[in-house]
Amino acid sequence: MYLVTGASGTMGKAVLTEVAKSGAPHRAMFRSATEAAKAPAGTSTVIADFSKKDTLPAALEGITGVYLVCSPIPQLIELEWNMIDACAAAAVGHIVLNSAMGAREWRKSFPSWHRRVEDKLKSTKISFTILRPNSFHQNVLTYFASSIRTQGVFHSSMGNAGVSFLDVRDIAVVAAKSLPGGEHSGKTYELNGPEALTYSELAAKIAKHSGRDVQYVDIPAEKQRQAMLASGMPEWQADALLDLQAYYVSGKGGKIDGLLEQLLGRPPITMDEFLADFAGEFLAGPEAPASVPAEAKPQTKTKPQTEAASA
Ligand SMILES: NC(=O)c1ccc[n+]([C@@H]2O[C@H](COP(=O)([O-])OP(=O)(O)OC[C@H]3O[C@@H](n4cnc5c(N)ncnc54)[C@H](OP(=O)(O)O)[C@@H]3O)[C@@H](O)[C@H]2O)c1
Repeated sequence: MYLVTGASGTMGKAVLTEVAKSGAPHRAMFRSATEAAKAPAGTSTVIADFSKKDTLPAALEGITGVYLVCSPIPQLIELEWNMIDACAAAAVGHIVLNSAMGAREWRKSFPSWHRRVEDKLKSTKISFTILRPNSFHQNVLTYFASSIRTQGVFHSSMGNAGVSFLDVRDIAVVAAKSLPGGEHSGKTYELNGPEALTYSELAAKIAKHSGRDVQYVDIPAEKQRQAMLASGMPEWQADALLDLQAYYVSGKGGKIDGLLEQLLGRPPITMDEFLADFAGEFLAGPEAPASVPAEAKPQTKTKPQTEAASA
């Protein structure tokens, strides 16, 4: 039986959808009963919290494989370490760890936190698959759709750096395929999308699909930092974002390779396909669609911009 953690989040929800579709016996882990009530029919649920170690053994009872993900917060290291320890104690056979692009070499910010979890996992005897995805397509909705809807613009200090965005639905397919271990055991997959887009190219694509004028406005990093702080973002997060952004600005996020297609066994979802599905999200008022597929719906909960915002 598989356990999908973070099942209320952007990535975990997509993984849960895939695992449920596969028909494999599984359980989804939530922190709140309200979120657990939204699980697909046929999914058993458990309420547990990585910070409450005594809640983890029950979540792991009878579990052979775990998809492990946590919010991009500095506590992620300790929280995921707790879960790895609990998995070792419960004799879990395989963990699919949701890490991030840059964990191999970027010694700052979010990638460095993920790297510490990767190292912990590798220090155990548990078989593993590590996923290091590039920036999600879904970030465009979560972080840019609001200012596009109201002003037709989005801002960052990415310059002309290209980003090989990929879709959480594709990452979820790879995660679900990796849960049994097998040929995926011991592998670290650095996952990139099928094309590298600058933010100006992204703006042109959003304009094409939504039928409205959309501009990307490049601003100095310090101005971006001030705007983040003014929006109420904590200092640690603004600094972590800009440290990650430096990685992308150096061109490291624009890699294109065939790995994702090979793992999926089909071409990955493109930005054009993604934007065609969600074009209405960039329109204000009644033109916006009444609903979008649940597995890719942008998060409605209020959260400050995360690393996704800068990449
Ligand atoms: N966005 C990107 O482009 C990108 C790219 C590469 C890698 N990543 C990585 O992908 C990961 C997932 O991102 P996401 O956007 O899916 O995050 P998310 O939407 O914030 O989801 C995080 C999940 O972790 C759960 N969680 C948080 N604290 C927990 C705790 N103490 N115990 C148990 N569960 C807890 C959350 O539950 P609640 O709903 O209860 O809070 C939520 O279900 C992050 O680690 C991020 O660094 C993101």
